[in-house]
Amino acid sequence: MYRSYDDVMLEPQYSEVRSRKCISIAPSLEIGAPQCKTVLSMKTPIISSPMDTVTGVTMALTMYLEGGLGVLHRYNTVEEQVTMVKKLQSICGDQLEVVAAAVGVSGDFLERAIALREAGCNLIVVDVAHGHHILVKNALEMLRIKVGDNVHLMAGNVASVRGIIDLHQWGADSIRVGVGSGSICSTRIKTGHGVPTLEVLLQAKENAYCLENQPVLIADGGIKTSGDIVKAMAAGASYVMLGSLLAGTDQAPGQVISIGDKSYKNYRGMASPEAQNAWRGAVNSNEGISTMIPHKGCVSGILDDLNRGIRSGFSYSGAENLKELQELAIFKNVSPASSLESSTHILGLKGVVG
Ligand code: XMP
Repeated sequence: MYRSYDDVMLEPQYSEVRSRKCISIAPSLEIGAPQCKTVLSMKTPIISSPMDTVTGVTMALTMYLEGGLGVLHRYNTVEEQVTMVKKLQSICGDQLEVVAAAVGVSGDFLERAIALREAGCNLIVVDVAHGHHILVKNALEMLRIKVGDNVHLMAGNVASVRGIIDLHQWGADSIRVGVGSGSICSTRIKTGHGVPTLEVLLQAKENAYCLENQPVLIADGGIKTSGDIVKAMAAGASYVMLGSLLAGTDQAPGQVISIGDKSYKNYRGMASPEAQNAWRGAVNSNEGISTMIPHKGCVSGILDDLNRGIRSGFSYSGAENLKELQELAIFKNVSPASSLESSTHILGLKGVVG
């Protein structure tokens, strides 16, 4: 069986964790070669996705201040993206330890990466839908030469153990796992391709012996709850990347749209016709949708809630940090009936006002 987040639960473990405050829910993020490494201590394992309705300057800054990370999107000109990088640094006041931005693998990507590096970016994301690709291999090799050893290279997306091993060997410092799992994705419908992200993580964990040292994995797409984040981390991810959970907040780019007494913001897949028309003036592929989601207010409240859930999740497995969680976690496959039991099922009962 190929398991997705809702197909499994984690078995509660004997615990000696006395306070949830003692739990470290995110590993440090390492940037640069060993001799000149920057080690960023993260307060949350959450990274905001490089999508044009999720991460602009305001989201990237807030994510950083909240102890996470935001990756500036690449759906603009080189000059516009460099301006975002500069703005991010001058808003902040203090020097940011990490500035992250995305690039592609063709066209101006090298020029873009060099300009981003010169502007102060030290985490570059090679951001393509099908990351297990020769163009990603070439891009990683060229980027390492052009931007140097002091830049963290994140790459993806992949959905196989072979993909993880290859990107690791091609020089990626961290790897985004997840193809077609995002809330706005239609890749699996349009192409028939994709593997549940949790399954890829679990298989990679089982095949860890194939790798000299453990690659840093980011579970990307399809995360709906803090419970899903705990499952992804227990299965081998160090971080998670979020789109829909952070979209619709005050810090996401875009205007609030009022309809009647309700308010919304746009959230769109970067392979949706709407997004492609907006940034390249044509539709090359159609593997995503554009939609409106409820306006959610400040992202800090959402992060607080997710962090509380993650902390509690670690404690249920008796873990004080990620390494312990990954060692102790016991996954149990669940039936559709038990999935129903896991939901707040009183809300479905007749007469209950929710
Ligand atoms: P969530 O579920 O957090 O997913 O909203 C966000 C992730 O979805 C990916 N992404 C896409 N995938 N078509 C796709 O198949 C698209 O148009 C698209 N846009 C974004 C991306 O990995 C993101 O982090």
